[in-house]
Amino acid sequence: MKEKLSGILDNALHQIEESGELEKLNEIRVAFLGKKGELTSVLKSMKDVAPEDRPKVGQLVNEARTKIEARLEEKKNAFEKKLREEKMRQEVIDVTLPGRKKEFGHRHPNTLALNEVEKIFIGMGYEVVEGPEIEYDYYNFEALNIPADHPAKDEQDTFYINDQILLRTQTSSVQVHEMEKGKLPIRMISPGRVFRSDDVDATHSPSFHQVEGLVIDRHITFADLKGTLEQFAKQLFGEETKVKFRPHHFPFTEPSAEMDVSCFKCGGKGCRFCKGEGWIEILGCGMVHPHVLEMRDIDPEKYTGFAFGVGLERIALLKYEIDDMRLLYENDIRFLSQF
Ligand code: DAH
Repeated sequence: MKEKLSGILDNALHQIEESGELEKLNEIRVAFLGKKGELTSVLKSMKDVAPEDRPKVGQLVNEARTKIEARLEEKKNAFEKKLREEKMRQEVIDVTLPGRKKEFGHRHPNTLALNEVEKIFIGMGYEVVEGPEIEYDYYNFEALNIPADHPAKDEQDTFYINDQILLRTQTSSVQVHEMEKGKLPIRMISPGRVFRSDDVDATHSPSFHQVEGLVIDRHITFADLKGTLEQFAKQLFGEETKVKFRPHHFPFTEPSAEMDVSCFKCGGKGCRFCKGEGWIEILGCGMVHPHVLEMRDIDPEKYTGFAFGVGLERIALLKYEIDDMRLLYENDIRFLSQF
């Protein structure tokens, strides 16, 4: 029995010594000390041992057990120490290395231009409101005095979701939503994205942005329109800016006009920037058509108003002297961070 025990002990210690990894130690523990382990089986066979020898054998088993446990513990600690050291070596922090800078983006020229436009109109007491990009045909056309067969619908072809729902072609639809709220007077601008089925080139994109403006109150005249938009142009492009109104046609305003600003590059003499014209067209505007008011139950005898719409990209391209609209949609930080 004694030899058997010392054989088990030697074997266990040998296996522990040879074990190459932490997980292996547990297997060895189970194999020798577990319920069905070799050492445990010796205790179980105690009945075969002569009664007077039993205490001695019991003691030997316990000694063997203690030795194996101690060796297992030692080996385990050694393994863990090695792992810890390995980890430390891998996770060395070189505090002398420069930190990793977080790359911030940059405000888009559209955003910069919009901030300026909003600041100017908020300063004049306007509210900034938003409207839906996915819109009913009714709000985009019909309620703006553009019935089903109107040629304006050809000029503003767009993406249809179904017969009645489309991607809006103009922020003018927000005029209708605002009037529908039923609160007068109205003094609002509404920036947002619009869509047209246009091909991409230096000045066109199937998706761009506009800022709509609408004022409705008593005694609003064309003089208010001119004064407001002239003030807007001066604040946006500089005090010396002159404005010019050319008659035009929009179905939802009467009379309608387009506003040009004197070229802020050459002051109106004519240069490459204004293509020799001295003037640059920047927006459409007019007095709200009486029929548009009537459709919203606003009495055109009591209330009048003016509206305008400006292309945001157009303002950004002009202000920051960018000559190709496509650059605005590439999101190249090297380009964007110039402004
Ligand atoms: N919605 C027009 C367009 O996209 C622009 C416009 C013209 C808006 C005249 C207006 C306006 O509010 O009065 O071409």
